[in-house]
Amino acid sequence: VTLTQDELKKIAAYKAVEYVESGMVLGLGTGSTARHAVDRIGELLRQGKLKNIVGVPTSKATHEQALKLGIPLSDLDSHPRLDLAIDGADEVDPALNLVKGRGGSLLREKMVEGVCKKFIVIVDESKMVAHLGGSGLALPVEVVPFCWKFTAERLQGMFEHAGCVAKLRTDNAESSELPYVTDNGNYIVDLYLERELGDLNVASDKMLRLAGVVEHGMFLEMATTLIVAGELGVCVKNK
Ligand code: A5P
Repeated sequence: VTLTQDELKKIAAYKAVEYVESGMVLGLGTGSTARHAVDRIGELLRQGKLKNIVGVPTSKATHEQALKLGIPLSDLDSHPRLDLAIDGADEVDPALNLVKGRGGSLLREKMVEGVCKKFIVIVDESKMVAHLGGSGLALPVEVVPFCWKFTAERLQGMFEHAGCVAKLRTDNAESSELPYVTDNGNYIVDLYLERELGDLNVASDKMLRLAGVVEHGMFLEMATTLIVAGELGVCVKNK
């Protein structure tokens, strides 16, 4: 039998939830893969197999999902250190660097996942790439709405060597023509790259130094464990 991509996502998510222990403060990820993990945590709480869990959601959508499931919630103000986060990714390179944010919630994800002792990334095998940007999908950058065009042009120029094309993400609740608005009231500029960026830390620093940039979707040296589900089974890789 061939498993669907969603079934693979669920397998990876359930495997990650095996690492959750009672009493933990958990970063709850966002997206179609992380959704399965949050559902599973809710189920284990309901069954009494997990107790005293506190969840810190990484988006408004996950906040709502977790509320419905009855998972007790908190935030970084009250819980500045977390035990474990579980989240998906758009791309994963061999060193466990990630691209995230295609779903739009990279800023809260980076804040929460940056303070977790352990960060498990869950993906189906289609997300594995030789280098970040290698899937041909966008590298998302969250920017302030003020003069977003200026910021987009600066970003495109910054990565000219990689054949970068910067596009404002559209499609919000009201219209597919209007800018997409993040949970934090910002816009997203998607960077499409033809070639490798080069040194990822240099690229990251450059973007963060541009005043209109709030955060970008490269999560460098943050993941501690990777769980990949594929046709041949589940693979766990530690950093
Ligand atoms: C949320 O904006 C993203 O960072 C997601 O975590 C990431 O895009 C993976 O999403 P899927 O599991 O839906 O592919």
